[in-house]
Amino acid sequence: MARTRTTKRLAKRIELHYFQQPHPFRRLVRWLTIAALAVSAGWIGLSAASKDNSPYSRGPLSTPHAMFSKNCVLCHGGVRAAGPEANSRSASLATGFFRRPVSDPACLQCHAGPAHHERQVLDRGMRTDCAGCHVEHKGFADIRLFSDRSCTQCHADLRVREGTTSFVKNISSFSPTGHPEFAVLRLKSRDTAQLKLNHQAHLKQGLRLQDGTVVQMNCSDCHRPANYSRSWPYGQVPPERPGKSPGGSAGPPSSDARHMAPVDYARQCSGCHDRDLEFDKSGLFPGIHAPHDRPEIVHAFLLEQYRQALARNPRLKMESPQALVRYPGRRSPPLTPRTNDAWVAERVREAETLLFMKGCKVCHAIEYAAEALPVIVPTAVPARWFSHAFFDHHAHRALTCVACHDRAPDSTRTADVLLPGIKACLECHSGAKNEGTFSTGNTRARSGCAECHVYHDQTGPGKLWEGAREIRELTKVIR
Ligand code: HEC
Ligand code: HEC
Ligand code: HEC
Ligand code: HEC
Ligand code: HEC
Ligand code: HEC
Ligand code: HEC
Ligand code: HEC
Ligand code: HEC
Ligand code: HEC
Repeated sequence: MARTRTTKRLAKRIELHYFQQPHPFRRLVRWLTIAALAVSAGWIGLSAASKDNSPYSRGPLSTPHAMFSKNCVLCHGGVRAAGPEANSRSASLATGFFRRPVSDPACLQCHAGPAHHERQVLDRGMRTDCAGCHVEHKGFADIRLFSDRSCTQCHADLRVREGTTSFVKNISSFSPTGHPEFAVLRLKSRDTAQLKLNHQAHLKQGLRLQDGTVVQMNCSDCHRPANYSRSWPYGQVPPERPGKSPGGSAGPPSSDARHMAPVDYARQCSGCHDRDLEFDKSGLFPGIHAPHDRPEIVHAFLLEQYRQALARNPRLKMESPQALVRYPGRRSPPLTPRTNDAWVAERVREAETLLFMKGCKVCHAIEYAAEALPVIVPTAVPARWFSHAFFDHHAHRALTCVACHDRAPDSTRTADVLLPGIKACLECHSGAKNEGTFSTGNTRARSGCAECHVYHDQTGPGKLWEGAREIRELTKVIR
């Protein structure tokens, strides 16, 4: 039997002019195509007419720059660099017919953006232009969320232009192996505060005060953020009148909640230690104590107190100080009338011996001089421990103090450093994805380098404070 289903016969079944025949579906497709083109052409035309460039944009600008959304030229403009940078690659003239790239000089019109380190080495392929770190057109963009690579391109193998660096050279991530222990602990530094404080003696259970009451102290009785406004439990200064050490270290409360207020005698110690400043054991001045101040001021205060006491009761002069110490069965030695000044000087010297050899020494290191008043060794309680990183107590207020400062309750010497090591931080800050602007799906606290470090050198000149722009210049739309 002959084959009937030949290719030729099958081909005849296909209608060759099928596509020329009208069909509602094909008509719809055609009209839709035309409509889409018309709509987009109209959109571009309209936005061109309204001088709006946003259709060409890559995405919404970051929150701080949102107000420049209609003014692409501000960043994508042709800005000529001035000064020594004029020849560098990133500073080259950013112009172009079809595409206008962003240039550092454009950013530098409004920002200082000072360089990181004088001695940094730039190799080929490294990105230290502004746009290399500060990502734009992603809407809400946090400058701290860029990739760790921006930093580790240098810090994984740190080199300096000349000489050697004292910093650890191979930092690759915030992880047990990628980041060194903090220098203060790594180098086993000591706390050289020149102020005695035994944490254990104050924090122990059943602390008995001189009047017999028993209290339980805790950290916040002595340490609170600088901007804390309520009064201190063992201080004698109302909150609106901040205490001030004679050295002037404890200024007015700042708005800074990141760090603890500096220790201050009036606010944190006076309630319990004023008795150490009592200067007369004879009972002449009940309840009165020396001011907590420089020895010269203490001296002037004592002179005044004894002069007034003598004026109130001239008979005092008849009693020599030794006469006050009466032994049983022994008569007072004969009284010798002297000049008022001689009596006052003698009593002041006695009071000062008590204060400077005993009272002040409870907390201070003192240098004695043969003929002059002693000198209180200037205190040096560190206000900041990290000079190359920042920290924020406020961000960690859900934790107990001892969660990080675990050595504090048992520390008996000022010299002990009570700061947490990197291990404590890694419990939460590690393993987060630090791969770019948007790191979603993190189940850990952020651990990108910029979480704890600054990049721009804020110490040099370079910091732009007063700009050069008028309001109109930033708000009008340039084409
Ligand atoms: C605040 C500064 C700023 C403004 C204003 C701005 N851009 Fe950008 N734009 C950038 C940065 C930064 C980049 C990233 C450049 C890079 O990765 O090198 C960028 C990238 C782009 C890109 C990707 C192509 C390229 O050149 O890398 C386009 C397209 C773009 N912008 C369009 C626009 C348009 C359109 C506007 C105005 C509606 C605008 N931009 C306004 C900063 C800005
Ligand atoms: C026309 C002026 C102008 C230009 C150009 C400009 N900025 Fe800004 N930028 C601002 C203003 C205004 C703010 C908001 C105020 C502030 O935070 O400093 C801001 C904010 C920022 C911030 C956030 C600051 C913060 O503390 O949160 C960064 C980062 C930044 N700009 C980087 C850049 C970069 C990178 C470029 C170049 C691509 C650039 N800017 C171009 C004016 C400008
Ligand atoms: C290697 C990454 C990196 C590069 C490159 C970089 N920045 Fe930054 N920038 C940061 C980090 C990190 C911060 C936040 C911490 C700080 O202030 O240093 C920041 C903060 C800023 C801020 C806000 C803080 C401030 O100073 O008020 C501005 C504005 C800024 N950068 C502008 C610039 C400009 C302009 C350039 C280009 C000249 C630039 N940045 C290049 C990483 C970078
Ligand atoms: C172009 C190379 C380079 C890049 C990129 C770079 N650094 Fe550095 N960094 C250096 C050099 C060089 C030093 C200084 C070494 C010295 O002077 O001994 C330094 C020092 C430091 C220090 C210690 C000194 C200080 O200033 O506190 C820290 C912290 C630091 N960098 C953090 C960062 C962070 C965070 C980033 C990313 C935002 C970054 N670096 C990006 C080269 C770089
Ligand atoms: C969770 C906070 C945190 C993160 C995240 C972090 N660091 Fe650090 N880093 C610190 C602290 C704290 C120090 C100690 C600072 C000091 O001693 O003054 C330090 C020290 C440093 C030093 C100085 C090292 C030395 O020689 O003592 C460098 C450089 C540095 N970090 C770079 C980086 C880089 C790069 C990254 C990102 C890969 C990073 N850090 C991530 C907290 C952090
Ligand atoms: C009686 C007041 C008092 C109490 C209570 C107290 N401190 Fe202190 N603390 C001080 C004084 C004063 C200093 C400064 C002297 C010094 O550097 O040791 C200090 C210093 C510190 C320092 C920085 C100095 C270093 O060596 O690390 C830390 C951290 C600290 N205290 C944590 C704590 C913690 C945590 C608690 C609670 C468990 C606590 N303190 C309770 C008075 C107190
Ligand atoms: C209970 C402990 C205590 C006693 C007792 C004490 N002081 Fe102080 N003194 C402090 C504290 C706390 C500070 C504040 C530390 C600081 O500012 O760094 C301070 C600061 C000072 C300062 C400023 C030091 C500086 O360099 O800034 C002087 C001066 C001073 N005291 C003098 C005295 C004199 C004089 C006596 C005895 C009459 C005395 N103190 C007794 C705790 C005490
Ligand atoms: C709640 C009351 C109280 C407060 C507030 C207080 N102290 Fe004391 N302090 C005591 C008592 C009680 C002792 C005796 C403890 C002992 O020897 O067991 C003492 C002892 C001391 C000693 C001697 C420690 C030793 O090793 O024997 C020093 C130094 C001292 N305090 C410093 C301070 C400083 C500095 C402050 C303020 C920052 C302060 N105290 C705040 C109650 C207090
Ligand atoms: C998440 C860990 C953490 C917790 C929780 C914490 N601290 Fe700290 N603390 C630190 C670090 C890190 C520093 C060093 C910061 C610096 O000086 O640069 C510090 C510094 C201090 C200092 C020295 C002065 C200063 O502020 O830099 C004192 C005092 C202090 N802490 C007391 C406390 C007290 C009191 C609490 C509880 C209310 C507390 N800390 C909770 C980590 C912590
Ligand atoms: C219990 C978990 C936990 C521990 C432990 C911890 N942190 Fe944090 N830390 C956080 C969280 C959560 C944030 C907020 C993160 C955010 O805003 O995305 C934070 C924020 C920070 C910030 C940024 C604060 C700001 O104002 O932006 C720094 C810096 C920081 N931590 C440093 C440290 C250091 C240094 C240690 C170790 C001494 C430490 N943290 C220990 C959970 C922790």
